[in-house]
Amino acid sequence: MDWFVYDFDHPAYFDHYRDKEADAAVEGPALAALLGLPGGATVLDLPCGWGRLRPALEARGYKVVGGDLSPLNLARHATGHPWKILRLDLRALPFRSASADGVFCAFTSWGYFATEAENLRQLQEFARVLKPGGTLLLDLCGREALKRGVAADEGRWVDLPSLGYRERVRWSPDGRRIWTERRDGEHAFRHDIWIPTDAEARAGLEAAGLVVEAAFGGLHGGPWTRDAERWIYRALTR
Ligand SMILES: C[S@@+](CC[C@H](N)C(=O)[O-])C[C@H]1O[C@@H](n2cnc3c(N)ncnc32)[C@H](O)[C@@H]1O
Repeated sequence: MDWFVYDFDHPAYFDHYRDKEADAAVEGPALAALLGLPGGATVLDLPCGWGRLRPALEARGYKVVGGDLSPLNLARHATGHPWKILRLDLRALPFRSASADGVFCAFTSWGYFATEAENLRQLQEFARVLKPGGTLLLDLCGREALKRGVAADEGRWVDLPSLGYRERVRWSPDGRRIWTERRDGEHAFRHDIWIPTDAEARAGLEAAGLVVEAAFGGLHGGPWTRDAERWIYRALTR
């Protein structure tokens, strides 16, 4: 089974990422503003997870449709927002071409697939469903900041009692992907995410037919820097 099918659809996922619910109060309004569309715009929240950022998108007047692969995330999403959510795979979106004003892709939700072709396919699908001139917001973690964050404990098992699990973080041997293993009781998880360089992220967007219109180095729209913790790209369809 692909890691992203197992890890994100396990009840422990909500526990491991419980801080992200509170983070949404800051991340949601900031990222929704960076999308930069007028009220009334149709925005696809892909992947939407349990819908933690949806209230902020709706607060800007966007008409939101969420989609995710994980039934467990979608079930939780449905308790707060029971409609306009779909089960889908990012590699084959069930939306008509040129049907959306915006695609909102938050919290490092690109690079999950094993092959470059599949990761490009995700961006191509985003581009396909956007109207001409439509906007993608792609919120990634900054590769250099991640390198610094991982360096001290790379490859070591670290106990995180407050979070209730042990964790080991390593770069893949080719240095392209970050492997995050977690042991929580008898459960074992292993995220395996491609962390692109800035050049690779831009090349992927361009190859998908998107033009980078702005790049930000943080939630509040500061300029992109190599060392920023988040690399947030706003790209438009040609
Ligand atoms: C890190 S979470 C981010 C969710 C949301 N954007 C947020 O900020 O809370 C990544 C999400 O991607 C979903 N996902 C992973 N692989 C997917 C795929 N192939 N197709 C659709 N969704 C997928 C997971 O189920 C999970 O909900």
